Amino acid sequence: REISIIGAPMDLGQARRGVDMGPSAIRCAGLSERLQRLGYEVYDEGDIEIEIRERAKSTSSTHLKNLEAVAEGNQRLCTKIQEVISLGRFPLVVGGDHSIAIGTLAGVSKRAENLGVIWYDAHGDLNTAETSPSGNIHGMPLAVSLGMGHPLLTNIGGYLPKVKPENIVIIGARSLDVGEKELIREKGIRVYTMHEIDRLGMTKVMEEAVSYLKERTDHVHLSLDLDGLDPKEAPGVGTPVVGGISYRESHLAMEMLAEANFITSAEFVEINPILDDLNRTAEVAVALVGSLLGENLLFEQKNLLTLT
Ligand code: ARG
Ligand code: MN
Ligand code: MN
Ligand code: MN
Repeated sequence: REISIIGAPMDLGQARRGVDMGPSAIRCAGLSERLQRLGYEVYDEGDIEIEIRERAKSTSSTHLKNLEAVAEGNQRLCTKIQEVISLGRFPLVVGGDHSIAIGTLAGVSKRAENLGVIWYDAHGDLNTAETSPSGNIHGMPLAVSLGMGHPLLTNIGGYLPKVKPENIVIIGARSLDVGEKELIREKGIRVYTMHEIDRLGMTKVMEEAVSYLKERTDHVHLSLDLDGLDPKEAPGVGTPVVGGISYRESHLAMEMLAEANFITSAEFVEINPILDDLNRTAEVAVALVGSLLGENLLFEQKNLLTLT
C-alpha cells in the first residue's frame, strides 16, 4: 500500500534537451495526488542526482555518449530502489530518458529469481555499442540488462544479467534496428509489434503477455516509454514514431495489468516537456499510472493492489 516516487532527471542517454525536466512535469500533472486519492501512502523520494550535460564529458575512448555520467546516475538509482524495496514500498520511477531502465532493472532484479519485464515502447532498446546507429545509451538499456554491452553499464548493481530473454515481452514496437531484430530472433524475445496489436487487438495481446509472464516469473517490472503511444496523443517525446498505440488501448493495457495484480515496480520515461503540447504527455502518463494502480471509472473505492 506504500509507493515511493523516484525522479530520475536523466537526459544524457540521448541528444535532445529537456527530458531531464520529465520528473518535474509529471509531478506538476498531479502524480502523487492521483495516487493518494486511490488510497496509497505516497512517499516522494525526490530526484536522483544526475550530472548536468555541460559537465558530463566522456573521458574514455568510446562512442557511447556520456558513458561515465550515465553509469554513475544509474548506480545511484539502483541503490535508491533497493533501499525503497527494503522498506516494503512499490518503486515508481519517473524519467528521464530510457537509459534509466539500466539502474531500475539493476535495483528491482536483485530480489527476483526470474524477473519479468514488460517493455512498452516504439523501440526495442536492444542495441549494443556495435549495433547502435546513434551511440545514444537510451537505445541500449534492454540489451544491457541482458548482460550485453559496456561493462560499466552491465555491471551496475554488481551482478549480471538482470533479466533473461525469455522473461521479456516487448509491446508496441515499430522501429527496430537491424542488430535489434537479429538479437530478438537469436534470443527468442517475445515481441508484439504494432502489427500484432492491430491484428489481435490489445485485449488478446495483454491476455497473452500476462499469462506468458505469470507462468515463468516471480516479479514483473513495467517499463513504459511514452513514445510507445502515438505521437498524436503523446507528443512530448524525443524520438516519436508514427502509427503508435492509442490512448484508449494504453488505458486498457494498464487496466489489464491492474487486474492481473502482478506488477511489482514500474517506470514511466522519455517525457520531454520542451517538446510537448503544454503538459499533455505528462498528463497522459499520470492517467496511465492511475489505471495501472487500480483506478476504476465507476467506483470511488478502488481495487488497491497488493504491490509486493
Ligand atoms: N534505436 C534508436 C537508437 O538506438 C532509437 C532508440 C530510441 N530509444 C528510446 N528509449 N526512445 O538510437
Ligand atoms: Mn522508445
Ligand atoms: Mn525506450
Ligand atoms: Mn478504462
